[in-house]
Amino acid sequence: SEDIFKKVISHAKEYGFIFQSSEIYDGLSAVYDYGQNGAELKNNIKQYWWKAMVQMHENIVGIDSAIFMHPTTWKASGHVDAFNDPLIDNKDSKKRYRADVLVEDHCAKIETKIDKEVAKAAKRFGDAFDKDQFIATNPKVIGYKEQIDTILKRLGKSLENEDLDDVKALIEELEIADPVTGSKNWTEVRQFNLMFGTKLGATAEQAMDLYLRPETAQGIFLNYLNVQKTGRMKLPFGIAQIGKAFRNEIVARQFIFRQREFEQMEMQFFVKPGTELEWYEKWKETRMRWHQTLGLGNDNYRFHDHEKLAHYANAAADIEFKFPFGFKELEGIHSRTDFDLKAHEQHSGKKIQYFDNETNESYVPYVVETSVGVDRMFLSVFATSLKEEVLEDGSERVVLALPAALSPIKAAILPLVKKDGLPEFAEQIVKKLRLDYNVIYEEKDSIGKRYRRMDAIGTPFCITVDHDSLNDNSVTLRFRDTMEQKRVSVDELAAIIDKEVNM
Ligand code: GAP
Repeated sequence: SEDIFKKVISHAKEYGFIFQSSEIYDGLSAVYDYGQNGAELKNNIKQYWWKAMVQMHENIVGIDSAIFMHPTTWKASGHVDAFNDPLIDNKDSKKRYRADVLVEDHCAKIETKIDKEVAKAAKRFGDAFDKDQFIATNPKVIGYKEQIDTILKRLGKSLENEDLDDVKALIEELEIADPVTGSKNWTEVRQFNLMFGTKLGATAEQAMDLYLRPETAQGIFLNYLNVQKTGRMKLPFGIAQIGKAFRNEIVARQFIFRQREFEQMEMQFFVKPGTELEWYEKWKETRMRWHQTLGLGNDNYRFHDHEKLAHYANAAADIEFKFPFGFKELEGIHSRTDFDLKAHEQHSGKKIQYFDNETNESYVPYVVETSVGVDRMFLSVFATSLKEEVLEDGSERVVLALPAALSPIKAAILPLVKKDGLPEFAEQIVKKLRLDYNVIYEEKDSIGKRYRRMDAIGTPFCITVDHDSLNDNSVTLRFRDTMEQKRVSVDELAAIIDKEVNM
């Protein structure tokens, strides 16, 4: 799977999806740029989310709040005091790690032992192998699972109690070594705030300390009253937004999975107190279904219910996705209670309440939040869609089998040769289709090479114009996934594309 991940990263670069930021200056760690195809795919992901969350829900509206916010925001939200990662340094290598991640990686290694046992047994039993039953009954596997469980429970508890000494003790007991040098000579564990600071104002005396927002959610909370009043919104209702967030992540690896600058798609759903857990369950289900509708395979998703809750939550779960490096968080769903709105009431001295017409009382609404990273979603879609196929004639092709709705380019229009009026005919098709879809014209290279290039960037349709086209107004339509080719009339093209692209 490490191999697959390397292929994903190099394919993303080679085909103009993702570049390392500032590459000519040797790059900036954990910061990435989206190239010509990446920007299209990313925009399509955002649109797909916005449509499902905002346009398809009568009681959800979208906003776009600023990245800079009054610094008291982060005091009130708890981020100044509690948005920390526990870090540990290795005294020999001088390398710094997230203590919790070291422990989690240790557990992931135990997990691979389970995988090995399963693979061994599958080989032994052949067709008769029942994986679920094996996992549930094999003593070795049960032992490994118990080990993982005990370790993670202890880690969760010590982090929750801010017992950093115990986190260190755990690392020592498990004999966890520096993954690079193998040294086991660790410092104490200490907390490290993840927010980036900056300054607003021209002169040093007048400058105001600011933070780059570490989540978009607070922009929604601060605008709760504005939106509720001006939109005459009635509970329950939601406010959604898509935007950049910044975190000074220490574990900067795994490509765009964990970045220092990334994008979130968040929705805060405001509800009557006491109904929040019902809504929490509802949103968990709704969001899971939304992901699965993309068609990447339902087995690639699972819930992970949190035992260790963030400082603002009374229930929380992740939707995890099976990335090339294992199941990891894709989206977070949190029941945030009235923590944020109450905190902003206290710090601002302004009332942030909802007047309930039915009961004639005012109260601070509770909040259920759904929060998914655009970049993680990008990685999930991209990595899962990338396939190497061996064709019947023994040749290989690389295909990016993206859901058509997300593909950067929906169709490529290709004249078979660069003469005899074929380019002009093809340009006419481009002109028409371009009004509704992102299509391109391409005349360079042999037709076979052009097909392969379109496969590699995930274009669902190739439309080839040949000499017959001029006589019968028909073209050859090639489907990316099956490579099937069929003759269709130019007039049918829009309908065929539409059916595939509009999910
Ligand atoms: N407002 C709640 C919140 O921010 P979170 O679980 O910290 O919750 C939500 O973040 C989502 O944002 C995550 O599920 C993940 O998809 C994305 N995310 C968080 N940190 C990220 C990072 N460093 N790089 C890329 N995506 C990140």
